[in-house]
Amino acid sequence: MYSSEDLKDVVEKSLKSVQNGGFSDLYAPVIYSLSIGGKRIRPVLALLSCNLFIDKIIDKHVLPAVGLEVFHCFTLVHDDIMDKADMRRNQPSIHKKWNVNTAILSGDTMCIEAYRLLCQAEIPKIHEILNWFSKAALNVCEGQQYDMNYETKTTVTEEDYLSMIGMKTASLISVSTRIGAIIGEAPSADVERLARLGQNLGMAFQIQDDIMDTYSESKKIGKDTGLDIANNKKTYLLISAIRLAKGEKKKELLSLMNNKEEIPVMEKYSRVKAIYDELKVKELAENKIKSYYAVVEDELKAINVKSERKEYFKQYVDSLFARQK
Ligand code: IPE
Ligand code: IPE
Ligand code: MG
Ligand code: MG
Ligand code: MG
Repeated sequence: MYSSEDLKDVVEKSLKSVQNGGFSDLYAPVIYSLSIGGKRIRPVLALLSCNLFIDKIIDKHVLPAVGLEVFHCFTLVHDDIMDKADMRRNQPSIHKKWNVNTAILSGDTMCIEAYRLLCQAEIPKIHEILNWFSKAALNVCEGQQYDMNYETKTTVTEEDYLSMIGMKTASLISVSTRIGAIIGEAPSADVERLARLGQNLGMAFQIQDDIMDTYSESKKIGKDTGLDIANNKKTYLLISAIRLAKGEKKKELLSLMNNKEEIPVMEKYSRVKAIYDELKVKELAENKIKSYYAVVEDELKAINVKSERKEYFKQYVDSLFARQK
């Protein structure tokens, strides 16, 4: 069995060999994006899922997992343009270090490279894998469109929000555990369990990301903080605050979002955060995360392999729920 650290090492090694097409104007930003770090949770989850069912992880399992990471990195490059985010993994975002057009094209290149890596895997169910992957990739785009649409909408419900993050974030995590299980030739009931596990883990993951954007230090998470508030992103914190605020508080929150008075961004951040604190929405978000974690635990328990085989998986999931970055 492999620990998550072992698998992360395997992924890092394989990522280094992702082809550098030689034309550095195009590939330098690609290599930059793939080499400046990141938690690598999607490929690690895919390989942990695979390792539940087969003992030896070899190239044909690793390549699709690496494809998932390359696709994820692509989404980050374009997401940073959409979110006007100048820092990623403690380094300047590609559109800052180069420019927006370069970020668009190197992102496109990574999306294509992700498919190439997935196709390279010599596995019998490659069509099925590509089909699930493509569905998830479209889901990410749909989720991202909702995420942008909601910036200018104040009537986003909890259901709308959960559906949006289910698409933009959880779908890729879910397809990672699903693909890992398929590559491991898991029985179909366990493939479905792992897909549900990934979906619930992804929901918790995005809510935690929302919390960190407002409450963590930028250096720690490697991204500029406070951007969600600046961009009126409908995070779990903001939709809960809009729902719970009454009277003057609600007026203040809505007017901060309209920002007709053009309040400086730092002032907007501290005033919105003060409302969050007063309404205790961070605690609500943490409870929501716990409820998803309970489902993840149940799905893991139900997978039909000996509990010793699930130990590394369980440890990894626990570490994700305790994450500070
Ligand atoms: C960031 O993903 C985007 C979200 C879905 C919240 P990660 O938090 O996995 O980013 P890296 O890959 O570790 O940088
Ligand atoms: C992004 O969500 C999800 C993606 C599909 C990339 P965020 O916009 O919250 O991710 P970060 O905080 O920039 O990493
Ligand atoms: Mg975004
Ligand atoms: Mg973003
Ligand atoms: Mg975020």
